[in-house]
Amino acid sequence: MRNVIAIDGPAGAGKSTIAQALAARLSLPYLDTGAMYRGITYAAMQAKVDIYDTNALAKLARRVELDITDQSIFVDDVDATSIIRSPEVTTNVSIVAANSGVRAEMRAQQRLWVEERGGGVVEGRDIATVVFPDAILKIFLTASPIVRATRRVAQSGGDINEIAEQIAKRDKIDSSREDSPLREHSDSLVVDTSDLTVDEVVDSIHTAYKARLQQ
Ligand code: DC
Repeated sequence: MRNVIAIDGPAGAGKSTIAQALAARLSLPYLDTGAMYRGITYAAMQAKVDIYDTNALAKLARRVELDITDQSIFVDDVDATSIIRSPEVTTNVSIVAANSGVRAEMRAQQRLWVEERGGGVVEGRDIATVVFPDAILKIFLTASPIVRATRRVAQSGGDINEIAEQIAKRDKIDSSREDSPLREHSDSLVVDTSDLTVDEVVDSIHTAYKARLQQ
């Protein structure tokens, strides 16, 4: 067992908020793997690499230097913390994340990140199923489509119907791709966050974590 709490789930399920709060409570480092795919997407757009050019994109992912902390992401020494959340990056990131060469590189970097720190709270789409199947605790966070869209609008603005449509499109690409699709692990604890507060979700994961430590 590895001292990793893996948190997967679709966009807007509350992964980042919950994972950060949990990491703070447990004094564990936190890794947002979605930010890594966003960083590569931003780098490709900057370098004018065609995101549909499989080989060129995979090559770029191996070359780009990502420096990621709890609060920030630097892409080749440029602070990209805000720009990776831009609509342009968000529109393209699912295509980039479906590239197997990119995924192989990101997986290797994620495993190294955890190895260097001895564990952590890691959020993404394939963390329990592919990257850390030996995680001590695996969580799959969900929420109803309307709650997820409402949260995104509250965070970043926009029209609720448009945002709901974008989320559905991204979910479809993320769940139907061949390499590491968004799936629940059979061992995952599924938590529907639709009607729960952040504290309630964090409490339930914390309880499950303590129980796992005692097993
Ligand atoms: O969580 P997010 O919205 O920042 O994720 C951005 C994209 O990256 C999203 O399309 C899913 C993808 N992703 C992935 O494929 N695997 C991960 N481990 C994390 C994110």
